[in-house]
Parts: sequence; structure tokens; C-alpha cells
Amino acid sequence: MMNVLGIETSCDETSAAVVRSGKEVLSCETSSSLRFHSRYGGIVPEIASRKQLETISAVVDSAIKDSGLKLKQLDAIAVTDQPGLLGSLLVGISFAKAMSYSLDLPLLGVNHLYSHIYAALLDNRVKFPFIALIVSGGHTSLFFLEDFQRITLLGSTLDDACGEAFDKVAKILGLCYPGGPQIELLAKKGNPKKFKFACSNTERPFDFSFSGIKTAVLYLMRAATVNGVKKADIAASFQDSVFDTLAKKSFLACKAKKVKRLVIGGGVVANKKLREAFSLKAKEKGMEVFFPSIKLSMDNAAMVAGLGYQLLNKWRKNA
Ligand code: KG4
Ligand code: ZN
Repeated sequence: MMNVLGIETSCDETSAAVVRSGKEVLSCETSSSLRFHSRYGGIVPEIASRKQLETISAVVDSAIKDSGLKLKQLDAIAVTDQPGLLGSLLVGISFAKAMSYSLDLPLLGVNHLYSHIYAALLDNRVKFPFIALIVSGGHTSLFFLEDFQRITLLGSTLDDACGEAFDKVAKILGLCYPGGPQIELLAKKGNPKKFKFACSNTERPFDFSFSGIKTAVLYLMRAATVNGVKKADIAASFQDSVFDTLAKKSFLACKAKKVKRLVIGGGVVANKKLREAFSLKAKEKGMEVFFPSIKLSMDNAAMVAGLGYQLLNKWRKNA
């Protein structure tokens, strides 16, 4: 039994969690500075890192208290060390380093994208190998995992990340930031077959491109006098087309690597329509698809602590 404290500060969330043996989430405390960025239409790195600095200490304290453990019952600390906003990352890394020195605990650096993959493994038993799709505000990537030390990048976005495309399309439609949840809500009232949007083709089959579809929405909005109903149709058509492309490429990657398991992670996986679209396709193809709980889809430290435990275990076995 091992208790790992996880710390995640790669963007606007300051999160700390204690996870037992890579599975049991004893506590997870997350504070977001999102409301301070909304008026700028996106994350302002300077504001994000300042807010990280203001909240990190209280968030970590609270996660440890909620876990019911004493400091001396912690066995390791895991912290997101890349990729992310430099100033924000530095706050978490410095804090984790100081704690690891003072408590004499091993410190593990965890990749943010891989921890998003691990989020689905906190709630599900998933056997290796599998394909993982990461769809967040900063990344859209397909990976092949033989285990957490043997990860191959199959493809990624050539322009916007998927979440970023949602945020930009939301802005074009006059919705506020972050746009992903707003588009999901609006799309519920719209007809997804009304407009024929398409994601651009890419030279390599597992890369993605979202800038073309974003521009198509922009031109349509400019050309038409759009009322509330039509906006909902645009949101629904855009969303459907993006999810269709994500699913096609992900299942194609499964076929290419001869695996029947697909794991999805990153903020966009909070979208229920995405889950429906993937679950339906997986059923048709006789494949399994795994999602994190909605709560653990967004940035959080439980996934960091969970992956940290696995890395520590592997490292100890090999030592
Ligand atoms: O993984 P995440 O929390 O942060 C990054 O690492 O980027 O992802 C945030 C992204 C934002 O672009 C947001 O608009 C998108 O995830 N997102 C969604 C939904 N909830 C969040 N996109 C579509 N539908 C949602 N329900
Ligand atoms: Zn993320």
C-alpha cells in the first residue's frame, strides 16, 4: 500500500490529491483561476502563474487534511513537469521539490498528457497495449501504449488543438470562454445534419487539422444573418463533424496497431456527445472504449498521483 501526493499546476488549475496504490482517490482538491481569464477570451499565463502561487499552499494542505493521512504517511510526491505554461509549472515543481526535500520523499516528474491517459485507468481496468486519444485545450494526439514507459506518438494536430477549436468556434458564435461546455449545451438544441462541415484531410493518417473547419464556421457566420436557432445548428454540426473525425482516426489507429482497446482523455472528453459517439462506434466494431469520470476529465492531481505511483513501482522493480 503506497500513498502518493500528486500536484498539478500546468495551466489554470491548482490541484493536489492523495491517491492510494494508484487507484483509490483519498482526496482531490482543485482550485481554478478560470474566472480571472474569461474576460480576455483565453488563459493569460501571467495571471495563471500568480494565482498558482497564491493558492498552492492552501490546496496542498487541504488535500492532505481531506485524505485523513499524516504527512509521515505519504510515500512519494508526483508533480506535472511538462508540457504546460512555464510559470505555472514552475510553481508546482518548486513546491513539490521543497516538500520532497523536507519530508525526504521520492519525487516523480509526470507528463501532463500521459496523466490525462491515466485518468481513465483510475476508474477502469484497462489491459495494455491500447491506443489513447488526448483531446485537450493544448493538445490533440494519438498514442500507442505498450505500457507507461513505452509510448509511441502516432500523430497530433497540425494547427489548433481540439479544445482550442471549440473555444475559437464558441467565440465566433458569441459564446463565452471556455467554449467547449457552451458549444455542448447549445448543440443540444440544434440539428447536427444542417451544415456539412468537415475537418481538413491530413497527409499522415493520424494527424489532425481543425483550422479549416473553424474558418468554415467563421465564413458561414459572416455570410448569414444568424439567429439563435441557426447558431445551435452550427454548434451541433461542428461538434458532430469534429467527433466523427476523432473517432474515425482513433479506430483506424486501433486497426493499424491491432488493438481492441481505446482510452480517451483531456478536457474535451467531458463532452457527453463525444462519449456517445465513441461508445456507439466501439460497439459497432466490437471494441472497448474507456473514459475517465467527468470530474477527472479536466485537469486534476489525482491522475498525476496515480501515474506517479505506477512510475515509482516500475522504477523500484528495475532498481
Ligand atoms: O485538459 P484541459 O482541462 O486543459 C488542458 O490541458 O488544456 O482541457 C480544457 C479544454 C478547453 O479547451 C475546453 O473548452 C475543453 O477542454 N472542454 C470541452 C468541454 N469541457 C471542456 N470541450 C468540449 N465539450 C466539453 N463539454
Ligand atoms: Zn490538461
